[in-house]
Order: sequence, then structure tokens, then C-alpha cells
Amino acid sequence: MLDIQKPSTNKIILNTNQPIGIFDSGVGGLSLLSNIKKQLPNESLIYIADSLYAPYGDKSDNFIIERVNYITKQLVNKNCKALVLACNTATVIAINQLRERYSIPIIGVEPAIKPAVINSKNKRIAILTTQATAKNQRFLALVDKYKANAQVHIQPCQGLVELIENNQLHSPKFNLLLTGYLNEVLNKSADTIVLGCTHYPFFTDKIKALLGNEITIMETSQPVTDQLKRKLIEYQLLCNKPSSFTDKAQYQFFTTQPIQVNNEQSELISSLLNSPITLHYLL
Ligand code: DGL
Repeated sequence: MLDIQKPSTNKIILNTNQPIGIFDSGVGGLSLLSNIKKQLPNESLIYIADSLYAPYGDKSDNFIIERVNYITKQLVNKNCKALVLACNTATVIAINQLRERYSIPIIGVEPAIKPAVINSKNKRIAILTTQATAKNQRFLALVDKYKANAQVHIQPCQGLVELIENNQLHSPKFNLLLTGYLNEVLNKSADTIVLGCTHYPFFTDKIKALLGNEITIMETSQPVTDQLKRKLIEYQLLCNKPSSFTDKAQYQFFTTQPIQVNNEQSELISSLLNSPITLHYLL
């Protein structure tokens, strides 16, 4: 059991059986949740999709910060012992101020640029991102670190997140939009693609189908899970065995999408996770 206090927050007592909070603007963070669930099977997880406000990619920084603060507060109120900000856009814009405010471990997501540069044979890589990430200073500073070692093409992919949220991942409209963005990548002769948005791992098959199997695709679910595990160990919060009350890890899903359209969204989440879930409304 750990007793953590920050001057700006109430005293929080944490223990290993408390859940881990994971959130994203929508369903993208599920690509991380799946991996965390697999690698840390004893951990209970609470997922919040801020779907009423998705996509974050076309919103202002102030708006995103406001939403991130609101959702974090909800997860802390639900007793979460750690937080995974399963969104590149929210991470680059809001993680610093979040870490200043809360003492629990907060793990963010950043595009895997370093391993991509190391992997690339021709030293040309492309990063697919949302518009908000593409123009963010923290992200651009990260890209700058590797510019001496490789040509880095940043490809904003407006519209893809919205279509995934609307369950149109397999629509002709999605394929057309993606083909256009990948043509830009082809023009830059990149041999390695970094997925700079947690929604994007849901279409790695499509990228391979369009660009061929030789293209290397880098995503971040494993490094994020590793970092989460390291932090849980460091804070003595890793759950080795679920509580005797529940017997096994619990998974809860919430959305800010109004209740009328919730059914469609629970079907979408169930299909992305390949297992049925119950979705709750978060006011
Ligand atoms: N999954 C979020 C990310 O990783 C999507 C952002 C959005 O809603 O535009 O950036």
C-alpha cells in the first residue's frame, strides 16, 4: 500500500487492487487496452471513450486540455491507481500539466520515431498523425531530434479517426482517404511508417495491402505496456492477484456519447476487441 500526496490534490491512498484508468478521445485507445489486458491479466481496467468530443485532432489545445482534465478527474474519482493517456494528441498537449497535478503514475503515448529511424534501411520514415499532433511543438521537437539521422515525413490524416468512430473503417470513403495519404508516403519513398495515433493500428492490414509487406509499421502498444508495468512496479502497485472479493480482473467501459447511440458504439467496441462488452454512459 502506498500513500501519495501532492500539495494541490487530496491525500490519495493507493493499493494494488485498484483499477488502471485508460482513456482516449474515442475507441483508439482500445488498441492499447487489448495489449495491457493480455500482458497484465490481473489488472482491472476502466476505459473511457470521450466519444462525444471525438475527434480531438481538429480541436484547439485549450479544449483538449479541458477534456483531458475532466476525464482524468472521473478516473481518479473511480479510484484508479494509474492512468494511461491512450491518445497521442492528448499526450503531446496535456500530459505535462496532468503530471503536475496528480501523483499517480501517468503513462502517455508518443510515436515510435526512434525505433523507426533505427529500423529504416533507406533512412526515410513517415509518421501518420492527427492534425493537432502534426502541429504540436512537443511533437515537432521530438521529430527534430531525429532529423539528422533520417528524412522524416509527417503526414496528417484528417478524417480517418472520425470514420473509425462512425464504424466506417471498411467503407470505400475510408479506403479512398487512406490511399491518398499513403500515396504521399510512397512519394517520399519511406520504408518505415510510424503510427502516431492510437486509432491507426486498426488498419495496419490495409496499409500492408496497399504498400506491400516490405513496409515496416511501428506502433506503441508494447512499449506503453512495458512502461506501465515498470511504473506499477516502481510505485509498488502491480497487482499479482485480483482481490478476494472479485476473484478476477474487472473491465469496465464508459462513453460520453449520449445514451441513444450507445448501442452502436458498444457493438463497435465489442467488434474491435473481439469480445462482447457492456458500455456505460458517463455524464
Ligand atoms: N487516438 C487519438 C490519438 O492517438 C486520436 C485523436 C483524435 O481524436 O483525433 O491521437
